[in-house]
Amino acid sequence: MDKRYYITTPIYYVNDVPHIGHAYTTLACDVLARYKRARGFEVFFLTGTDEHGQKVEKAAHSVGETPLELADRVFKRFQALWEKLNISNTDFIRTTQERHKKGVAELFRRIEAKGDIFLGEYEDWYCTPCETFWTETQLLNGNCPDCGRPTDKLKEESYFFRMSKYQQTLIEHIENNPDFIQPKSRRNEVLSFVREGLRDLSISRTTFSWGIPVPGNDKHVIYVWFDALANYITALGYPDDSEGNMAKFWPVDVHVIGKDILRFHTVYWPTFLLAAGLPLPKKVFAHGWWTVEGQKMSKSLRNVVEPNMLIDKYGVDAIRYFLLREVPFGLDGDFSHSALVHRINSDLANDLGNLVSRSTAMLSKYFNGILPAAGPSEAVDETFRKRFAAVTLTVDELMNELSFNKALQAIWELVGAANKYIDETAPWGLAKDENLKPRLGTVMYNLLEGTRLIALLTAPFMPETAASILATLGLDQTDLSLDGNDTWGLLPPGTAIAKATPLFPRIEAE
Ligand code: MSP
Repeated sequence: MDKRYYITTPIYYVNDVPHIGHAYTTLACDVLARYKRARGFEVFFLTGTDEHGQKVEKAAHSVGETPLELADRVFKRFQALWEKLNISNTDFIRTTQERHKKGVAELFRRIEAKGDIFLGEYEDWYCTPCETFWTETQLLNGNCPDCGRPTDKLKEESYFFRMSKYQQTLIEHIENNPDFIQPKSRRNEVLSFVREGLRDLSISRTTFSWGIPVPGNDKHVIYVWFDALANYITALGYPDDSEGNMAKFWPVDVHVIGKDILRFHTVYWPTFLLAAGLPLPKKVFAHGWWTVEGQKMSKSLRNVVEPNMLIDKYGVDAIRYFLLREVPFGLDGDFSHSALVHRINSDLANDLGNLVSRSTAMLSKYFNGILPAAGPSEAVDETFRKRFAAVTLTVDELMNELSFNKALQAIWELVGAANKYIDETAPWGLAKDENLKPRLGTVMYNLLEGTRLIALLTAPFMPETAASILATLGLDQTDLSLDGNDTWGLLPPGTAIAKATPLFPRIEAE
């Protein structure tokens, strides 16, 4: 079987600059992409920017730019942040690129040719000052829910997608594929929504022009979500699906998204795909939302957490670790500086940092930094060694479930076990008696070998830290693969291992 893996982030709107919520989605994908690579998969990891639509058009006008000028400026901020966060994406798609526009037009054409797109009339309540349509139920006392001004009933010519036609097929698909929508609570939410009935969906607009024209009728631009969702296949070269990446990577293994865009990914997108005759995503995973110090993050509250600043202050790996360790993936969480500092001090500086500095310092002291071969083994050693194989298996299961925080917990059980192993075997006591030198050798070997395996398991989460530990252990710091490296006993005796400098300095509370 070919080991291939396709994973995507949502594409980010360019009317906003990147914040911690965006960083979270992308980071989770990066960790999984790195893990799968370490397990020997050929990974296609896609991210990008969503650059069309009325929101972007408005944002551009309000700062006196054309939409494309705004997009050209803002997409670079996303790219720069991903570089700084060590994101290992394979591709970056912008919806203003030719390859995307071509693919979207073709998708539209094919669905239309099948008879699932038709021209009709869209009738809803329109707020002219806001240039926004509202449904009857969205209105507040008949007025615009945004600005409170009166609305008019307006008719707009629009292309519609026969979404209703796919209701039953979608229900069956969700029922027959329990992993399709994760976590489970989201799956139930979508199922009951679809069971209530699907309306045909308006998929074009005539009230603004910043978008991809409807093929053959350029009075209309294609609805921004139809345009945006298609990025997941246009980046693979759709409609060119004979050989290339489309054949290789579609259907996607997982679309990782925030819970706010669940319906678009589990109702709209699958029905578009059904109409286009393409297989459905294997999995859509919706994560929760971050609040900040207990409050919703928003520009007006001026509490938007800026990832660049956090990385400069605490280091990239500390941020990567914190975001995925603090909150179960799928649930909401709260970002606070005190929680961040606490995690860095306890898990990173204390647990992991101390393990590496203590074990390398003892090796320097007792063996001049040259790794001895393991000598006679005792029960305590066997118990210690066995945990590694067991946790490695557990981590694999947890990563496949996107249970990042539990995977980290499991890895930290090993860190705890290694620190405990030092206390139990008390190398400083063994070092006092020359006859116990072989025993001391066993303990030192096991400790450093354990440290090597811990570094490899943490690598998808903290690539720089892992590389630095491997370099300290005299190993190739660019080889972070787990397949072939994750078995006990591969650290060669005789290796020169220097005393490590502290990985994570303690942070004093402000
Ligand atoms: N452009 C659409 C997605 C199109 S995908 C075909 C969009 N963009 S977005 O920039 O508004 O949001 C992108 C992602 O960021 C979403 O998954 C969203 O959930 C996530 N987050 C935005 N704010 C967030 C938090 N405060 N917390 C966690 N994630 C959040 O939607």
